Amino acid sequence: MLGSFFIAALLFLGACIGHGAWLTVTLNWFYSKPWPRPLLHNLKILHAVLLPVGPIAFWLLGGFDLTANWSMHPSAGWRSLFSAYLLACWIMAFGLFPLMTLLRNLRHAPSALLRDRAETVDIAERLGFKPAGTGKYRPVCHWPGNEVFQVDFSERTLAVPRLPLAWDGLTILHLTDLHLRGCPDRKFFQQVMDLCRDEEPDFVALTGDVVDSKKHHRWVVPVLGRLRWRVAAYAVLGNHDSWFEPKLTRRRLQRVGFRVLENRWEQIDVRGEPLVIVGHEGPWFQPAPDLSNCPPEPFRLCLSHTPDNLPWGRQHGIDLMLAGHVHGGQVRIPLFGSVFCPSRFSRRYDCGTFHEPPTLMHVSRGLSGQQPIRYNCRPEVTRLVLRAIPLVNADAPARVKEQAMPLH
Ligand SMILES: [Fe+2]
Repeated sequence: MLGSFFIAALLFLGACIGHGAWLTVTLNWFYSKPWPRPLLHNLKILHAVLLPVGPIAFWLLGGFDLTANWSMHPSAGWRSLFSAYLLACWIMAFGLFPLMTLLRNLRHAPSALLRDRAETVDIAERLGFKPAGTGKYRPVCHWPGNEVFQVDFSERTLAVPRLPLAWDGLTILHLTDLHLRGCPDRKFFQQVMDLCRDEEPDFVALTGDVVDSKKHHRWVVPVLGRLRWRVAAYAVLGNHDSWFEPKLTRRRLQRVGFRVLENRWEQIDVRGEPLVIVGHEGPWFQPAPDLSNCPPEPFRLCLSHTPDNLPWGRQHGIDLMLAGHVHGGQVRIPLFGSVFCPSRFSRRYDCGTFHEPPTLMHVSRGLSGQQPIRYNCRPEVTRLVLRAIPLVNADAPARVKEQAMPLH
């Protein structure tokens, strides 16, 4: 009696978890699409409504013991559809969900990641106040444990295949997802940029979602104008930029010295070696970059807003791809990891380094987001140090890992 009650309770709980997981996967997929913003907003509301509707419907249609009325036979009518959805929820809850979580926890950094260290700086502590700024989400900054002002200054040393020897030690400051919209305040971003100036990089790479309101284009110059670099600074825009006068954002970036790539490539000379730099703002800006006239030999660096362009990068011989967009999920549950990642791969490329030859990809957690909320997922700026060291074993764990991030 007790055993059947326990099994019924477990199946009911599994159906609810599976229902929530399927909704998360579909919402992540929808948000990877270049669909109109109002449509995406309505889909988000629909998902929020469907989340509690699922358990209520399970109870009303199936009762506590969901197996009692379970039938997949076509003659069962609507019950067969209901049963099929229940089965999908159980497969997710008891199969896919734990399996994917286990695999994520077992995966190790690629051998290309030679060194990974981070220093966390509490920007609120340095300023002497919480730079919450303005806007409706301002109170969220004050929630207990919110890490929105605790920025990780990460340094990742990468062994990059095909990197010319002359570039050994080349540095790239990777910035992404500032989401300038009033919250956090401008002083937060200026403090971060001032700290980035301590060590001048060779390149600055900005991978989109710079401006996220109609009013904050004017922050671009006073914030990003504080940066310095030795060779060049490049930028692409993201989905949020596409919603708020992207031409204006591009002009402001150019004013502070950024070369705004859009969906184009260009070749420059670095220490006597040719470098092809490709911008990929798709799928929000079309068409995708055309590399048909691009010389095949030079090293190819691609700035892409979303990591979803990794398959494109692999097809087009990209050596190193830098991306943002997914913010590491912003909230990461211990052992489980990220939940909401607006990617067609869901949380697969949520942050970190991924080596899928011929492309080595770095995905940054970014500096901010539409909502100023960060738990177990601090904002990040990354200094990449490129090394021309051949990889011996592509599956070996990282050789040196310092101050490992407590992220799952
Ligand atoms: Fe973003």
